[in-house]
Amino acid sequence: MQKPLVFIARRLALDPRQVIGAGVEISLHDLETAVPRAELLRRVHGASALLATLADKVDAELLDAAPRLRIVANHAVGYDNVDVPDCTARGVWVTNTPDVLTDATADLTWALILALARRLREGEQVLRSGKFAGWAPTMLVGRDLRGRTLGIFGYGRIGRAVARRAEGFGMRVLFNTRGGGVSFDELLEQSDIISIHAPLTEETRHAFGPAELLRMKRGALLINTARGPLVDEAALVAVLEAGHLGGAALDVFENEPAVHRGLVGRDDVVLLPHLGSATQETRQAMAQIALSEVERVLRGERPLHAVNEVR
Ligand code: DGY
Repeated sequence: MQKPLVFIARRLALDPRQVIGAGVEISLHDLETAVPRAELLRRVHGASALLATLADKVDAELLDAAPRLRIVANHAVGYDNVDVPDCTARGVWVTNTPDVLTDATADLTWALILALARRLREGEQVLRSGKFAGWAPTMLVGRDLRGRTLGIFGYGRIGRAVARRAEGFGMRVLFNTRGGGVSFDELLEQSDIISIHAPLTEETRHAFGPAELLRMKRGALLINTARGPLVDEAALVAVLEAGHLGGAALDVFENEPAVHRGLVGRDDVVLLPHLGSATQETRQAMAQIALSEVERVLRGERPLHAVNEVR
């Protein structure tokens, strides 16, 4: 009997054979770069399972190209790359990798908050360019966190983990989420630092546009480790240029992997290449979950982290 085909769209932090048994055939795109779209469409043909990353768009075109598909196991907690209603309509499970990346992402958020507040990027630059001429009371002074207000937009697992860490830094925390907290206006007007942790949906796309960015406190900092399109990057550049905000630290981008050119040369901006969950342990755990979900569905069982309901 022919074994079910599992297409894995990216090199993983572990060998998939360690997780998936011999009962399936694995086709692995064993590179760090994304599978070109035409190749992806070709390679999912005949696949019963797709392990996708956030860069792989799972839409009607892909689902048409993969008529045997039974599961899209997304190697991420976010699944805005997947057309979930269409998958559901076609009887395809969609799963994600929650919980295991909460701490890694919250830690990286704090790394960005500190990098921005304490001007780490500029400090590194001074040193590496040979411009450090010795300690000076006024050199690269940043800002204290103690006593300041951290506003968290989106108060799910990661938002709450970021809030827990704020206590150690003596910060007051406000949050805004669909189910409660302060109003979005209050969050914008009262926070010294805003950190974004909401999923990308039609409702949250460009939640931080020109009006919202201008409504933030003068000199406030904006951190985004969620999804790039929550922030209107062109508006962010304009607001930084006008000197309204004190800086921004971004791990995610509106047109990832491209970065708005206006952000790249700025001293008041810290940029990272989507490293939120990038620890060895976390990436292995994410791969383990996604592969186990594939196994479960191919055995005819219900996945543990389904984001849809398939009958
Ligand atoms: C996610 O899981 O959604 C992250 O953005 C990638 O780790």
